[in-house]
Order: sequence, then C-alpha cells, then structure tokens
Amino acid sequence: MPSIFPSEHSLGCRIEGVDLSKPLNHYDESLIIDAFGRFGVVCFPNQVLEPAQHKAFASRFGSLEINVAAGPYTVPNHPEVMILSNETIDGKPVGLGDAGQDWHTDMSYSTTIAFLNVLYALRVPRRNGTALGDTEFLDMCAAYEDLPHGIKKEIEDLTATHDFDKFWSKMVSLPGSKRKPLSDEQRAAKPPVSHPLVLRHPISKRKALYCNVGYVTRIDNISETASDELLQFLFRHQLKEEFKYAHSWTEGDVLAWDNLWTMHNAKADYKATEIRSMWRCQTMADRIFL
Ligand SMILES: [Fe+2]
Repeated sequence: MPSIFPSEHSLGCRIEGVDLSKPLNHYDESLIIDAFGRFGVVCFPNQVLEPAQHKAFASRFGSLEINVAAGPYTVPNHPEVMILSNETIDGKPVGLGDAGQDWHTDMSYSTTIAFLNVLYALRVPRRNGTALGDTEFLDMCAAYEDLPHGIKKEIEDLTATHDFDKFWSKMVSLPGSKRKPLSDEQRAAKPPVSHPLVLRHPISKRKALYCNVGYVTRIDNISETASDELLQFLFRHQLKEEFKYAHSWTEGDVLAWDNLWTMHNAKADYKATEIRSMWRCQTMADRIFL
C-alpha cells in the first residue's frame, strides 16, 4: 500500500511502496493522479525500470509525445523515451546535454499541452557527497493566487502565444552550446500556438497562471507595448523565490511532475565531466481534461 510523504513546500511529495515496473492497480493510479493535483511534483524513489516499463507507467495518464527536439537522443526502439545526458561516447553526445536549463514549462508551445514529465534518474553528479543538477520548480497556482486582484481580472480572458523556438534559440546562443538552430521541418512541426493565461486545473480545480518565461512571446489581442509590460510583470512575479521548490536527485528516482501548474529549471551547476543522465517521457494532457 503506497504511503505519501509531503514536502514542507506547497509543491513536492514522495510516494513509497509502489513498484512502477509493474502495472498499477486502479487504487494506486487514482492515488497518484490525486497527488499530481495536490503536490505537483511527485518522487517515487528506488525504482528499477526498463524503457518499456517507464513508458507503460507514463502512458497511464495520457498519450506519450515523441519530441520534435529528440533527434537521435532517444532510447533505441523507444522514440518516446528521450535521453537527457551530458555523457559522450567516442566524442559523441549520447543525449541532449543542456535540456531544460532555464525556466520553462514543457510543451506549452504545443497545441495539446503536456500534463506530465516523467524522468528516471540513471546517473546523478555529486561533488563532496552533495548531489548536483537539482530540478527546481515554481508553483503557478500559488503565483496566480498571489496576483493583485486587478491583474487577475485583466488576464482572466486573455491568451498568450507560446513559441518553441524562443527557448531553443536562447539555448543555441549560449557559449559552448552544441545545439543547432531548428530546421524548417522542426519549426513547421511546432508553429507558435495560443493558450489561455489562466488554466483551471482539472484535478484540484484551482486556477493556475499558465504563462512561462521560456516560451511565451506575446499576449494576444492587445498592443505590443501593453503585452511587453504585462509579460514583464508576470515573468518577474512568477519567478519569486517564495514559489520555488527544488528536487535533489538520487539514482533510481522517478520524478513525475505536473506541467499544468508548475514551471521548472534544470540547474546547470555541474561540469562536463560530472555526468547526469536521465530518461524522460512526456505525457500529454489529452486524457486528464476529459
Ligand atoms: Fe523541461
């Protein structure tokens, strides 16, 4: 029987007593779905998964994405399992090494947005016994609730444009980046899309600020100046320390987080020689809203 251990933050819990390599029973599945709505970031420690088992768990909550940026960085025969790793073999990278190293929300640039990221930690860098490469999160329900009343009213019916290329181009421009600019084909696969700025969470029914500095380029249907001013305010607001929670990784952790009410940042505090390797599945929000 699974036990839930909440963190001391509004985000984060640990669920023990469930083996994700085996099919979930309905009781465990509903307990886990409820935890996504209550805690946003859920860690299942001490897991041992094959790629097929990783996929089977992640796909219990929605369809799996085959990421447009995955390129060669997927587990052989499992295109839904992307490799996030800074390891190189014979000089060649085995995965995407700089994935998520700034604040963003996965798949907000997609017509069907993402519900979950499900990461499985294979190797965690450590220095003097301390784990590096934490994943940091921001609570976008708390951020929404903390907005001034006037801003809440202003954004209630607004939508914003999310563009995959905004974050990608930023990463390409960083010194030492191994990323190439997106190809025309990749851009065509993920054209900019609009989503409401306020999202009613399907599990908790709380409102979340669905806006993220990584991908949002424009508030729709207002002047460019008004859009710039509002975005500047929202970006500053959502990055406040009080909304922040960090997960420190251990090998064997499966960390599943709810992208509908969180933003995240993979902390780049380790060197090229300190290896961090994870597998990632992305579960779309196609079933959770039904
Ligand atoms: Fe990400």
